[in-house]
Amino acid sequence: MPKEIGVGVLGYSIGRVHAHAWNNVSEVYHPLPLVPKLVALYGRTKSVVDFEAEKYGYARTYDDWEKVVKDEQVEVVDNCLPVSLHPEPMIAAAKMGKKLFSEKPLARRAKDAKKMLDAAEKAKVPHMVGYNYRFIPAVTVARQMIADGTIGKVLHFKGSYLTTNSGYDSPDTTMRWQFQSDVSGYGALSDLGTHALDLARYLVGEVSAVASAQSTYIGERPVTGSPGKKGKVDVDDLTVAAMKFKNGALGTLDTSWLMPGRMDYLTFEVYGSKGALSYNLERINELGVYLTEQNPGSSGLRSLNVMTKESPYMKQYWPNQGGGFGWDHTFVNEFHHYLSSINEGTPIGPQGATFLDGYRNCLIMDAIAESARSQKWVQVPQ
Ligand SMILES: NC(=O)c1ccc[n+]([C@@H]2O[C@H](COP(=O)([O-])OP(=O)(O)OC[C@H]3O[C@@H](n4cnc5c(N)ncnc54)[C@H](O)[C@@H]3O)[C@@H](O)[C@H]2O)c1
Repeated sequence: MPKEIGVGVLGYSIGRVHAHAWNNVSEVYHPLPLVPKLVALYGRTKSVVDFEAEKYGYARTYDDWEKVVKDEQVEVVDNCLPVSLHPEPMIAAAKMGKKLFSEKPLARRAKDAKKMLDAAEKAKVPHMVGYNYRFIPAVTVARQMIADGTIGKVLHFKGSYLTTNSGYDSPDTTMRWQFQSDVSGYGALSDLGTHALDLARYLVGEVSAVASAQSTYIGERPVTGSPGKKGKVDVDDLTVAAMKFKNGALGTLDTSWLMPGRMDYLTFEVYGSKGALSYNLERINELGVYLTEQNPGSSGLRSLNVMTKESPYMKQYWPNQGGGFGWDHTFVNEFHHYLSSINEGTPIGPQGATFLDGYRNCLIMDAIAESARSQKWVQVPQ
C-alpha cells in the first residue's frame, strides 16, 4: 500500500498550478510509493480559497498561514506566497519539523534566504525551491551534454528571460507586489531573471562576479480602487548583466517584463570548445545542437525534438506524440523528484534546487543590484 503525505499550500495563484501537479503526480508516476494529499489551503480572499479548495479537493481552508503550518496532518508546507512572505512561514514550518517547498526566488535578499537555509538545515528537514525549468526533458539533455563534455569546455553562456505576458508593458497596469521592492526583492530580476540564473548555475556552474545595469521605464502605476492615485515602482523593468563563472566561462543575462512580442522567452545558448546548444521555453521540446566534429565545414544548430520515449521523463507522458510535454508537467516532475527524495532518503540536489541553491541565487541577484548601483564589477560571495 502506498503511504500518504499531507500537503498544505499557502497561496492560490501559482498555488493552483501546484495543486494540479500534486494531484497529478501519482497518476503520471503510478505506482507512487508516497502519494500527496491536499490537506489545507491558505489564501486571502475567502471566495477564491473556497473555489480553489472545492476544485482541487483540499480537505480544509484557513484564513491564516500559521494555521496551515500548525495543522497536524500537514507534513509538507508548500509556499506560493509573494516573496516577502517566504521566510517567516518556512522558518516556522522548519521549527515544527515540516518538510519545505518554496516558490522562487527563495527570498528578497540573500540574508533572508540564509536564515531559511539555516532553519531548514538545523531542523534536518527536506527543502526545495521551485526552479521547475530544471525538469524539462530538453534542459536535462542539455545538462547531460555539458556535463559529459559533448560540447567541450564551456566558454560562453547567454541567458534571457523576456516577457510581456502579464501586461506589464502597459502603463495602465495597476500596482501590484511585483513592482514593490519591499515585497518582491527586485523586479524582472526576481520574477524572471532568477530562473535564467538558476539555469546558468545548473548548466555551467557557480557565478563568481557580475557587472550590470538596471532600468525602470514605467516609474509609477495606477493604484486599484483609488482613482487618480499613482504608486511608485521601485524595481527594475529591465536588467542586463555580464557574468564571470568560477570555471572561467563568461556569460550574459538579460531579463525584462516589458519586451514586446515575447511571452515566455526563457532562453539559453551555451557555447563550448567542441559545440553549442540553444534552448527557448516558447518551443519547450526543442534543443538546438551543433557539434563541430560531426559537422566539419558547416555551421548552424540543428533542432532536436526531445520527446521520444528515450528522452528524460518522457516515458511517463505521451512520447512520440509531437507535443507530449507541456509547462504544467515541469511541476509534476519537480514534485515527483521531491517526493522520491523524501521516500528514498536521497538528496534533492543536484537535480532539484535546494535552499542552498536558492540562497546562492539570491547572492547573485544582490551582486547584480549592487553592481548596477556602484557601476563596478561585484564579486559574488562563494
Ligand atoms: N515557478 C514558476 O514558474 C512561477 C510562476 C509564477 C509565480 N512564481 C512564484 O510564486 C510566488 C507567488 O507568485 P504569484 O504569481 O502566484 O503571486 P500572486 O500575487 O498572483 O498570488 C500570491 C498568493 O498570495 C496571496 N497574497 C498576495 N499578497 C498577499 C499578502 N500581502 N498577504 C497574504 N497573502 C497575499 C494572494 O492572494 C495569492 O493567494 C512568487 O514567489 C513567484 O515568484 C513562480
